[in-house]
Amino acid sequence: MEIRKAVIPVAGLGTRLLPATKSMPKEMLAVGRKPVVQYVVEEMEACGLKDILFVTGRSKRTIEDHFDFNSELYSNLVGTGKRDLLESLSFENMEATFFYVRQAQPKGLGHAIMQARDFVGNEDFVVALGDSIICEDGKRLLETMLEAKKERNAEAVIAVQAVPWEEVHHYGIVKPLSGQSGAVVDLASIIEKPSKNEAPSNLAVAARYIFSPLIFDMLERTLTDKRGELQVTDAIESLIRQGKRVCVVVMQGKQKRYDIGNYLSYYKAFIDFAMSDPDYGQDLRHYVEKALQGE
Ligand code: G1P
Repeated sequence: MEIRKAVIPVAGLGTRLLPATKSMPKEMLAVGRKPVVQYVVEEMEACGLKDILFVTGRSKRTIEDHFDFNSELYSNLVGTGKRDLLESLSFENMEATFFYVRQAQPKGLGHAIMQARDFVGNEDFVVALGDSIICEDGKRLLETMLEAKKERNAEAVIAVQAVPWEEVHHYGIVKPLSGQSGAVVDLASIIEKPSKNEAPSNLAVAARYIFSPLIFDMLERTLTDKRGELQVTDAIESLIRQGKRVCVVVMQGKQKRYDIGNYLSYYKAFIDFAMSDPDYGQDLRHYVEKALQGE
């Protein structure tokens, strides 16, 4: 059966982006011309995922508004003949159905995913973190993951990316089965945010997952960590310990992940997207070059 459901957790408080995120979701911050979460939804739609569930929280209502049809704005743009602006809203017509469920308390990514259980039912599904944009050049990362899920008959497929060793403590870190290498490998274990010394590799979980519904059984039995959060990483480790197949797709050279979780990564993402803007990118590049020369 084709995978058609995607779960996008967007309930995080975004504290590392305060004050911007006090009343606005970090997923709605603009990167170039679009809010972060629109890139994520377009990525899902392009891979045939048409049923999209947002796991939301307080002060996340603008996400719902963004994907809703705004008839007043539409009439105004039609009335004033602003065709190009109408075109920029064409995502409103995408063939996706949106669902929303609330995660009442921020109890971790695993807990957010648990809120999707009724929506998912007995089907395989994708989890795409709503604050991370994946840029690709050529074949899509998620397409490779969907193929791997089918070919390897795995219970979970996870995107990973090599990160500097100094950064491993920010991520879930995986240990591939010994002797395996290449773009898709099976996992021996996974650990959430290890220290540099504990980390079994520098391959970090990169915001995209595919799961079979078995993950919910594992999550149900997983204990919360010392911060009171339910980690999906621990549930994945339980899958592996039960002898289930879990594999990773390693992001390739030209694929890039922007994690809009702090100001440095947000600024980097904004600069890259703004500099490739079809209308203003060229001018902006000149502006930045001059600014760097101190003019
Ligand atoms: C979450 C996951 C972590 C993963 C990261 C980026 O962490 O728990 O395993 O590496 O997303 O995909 P967070 O950034 O929510 O702390």
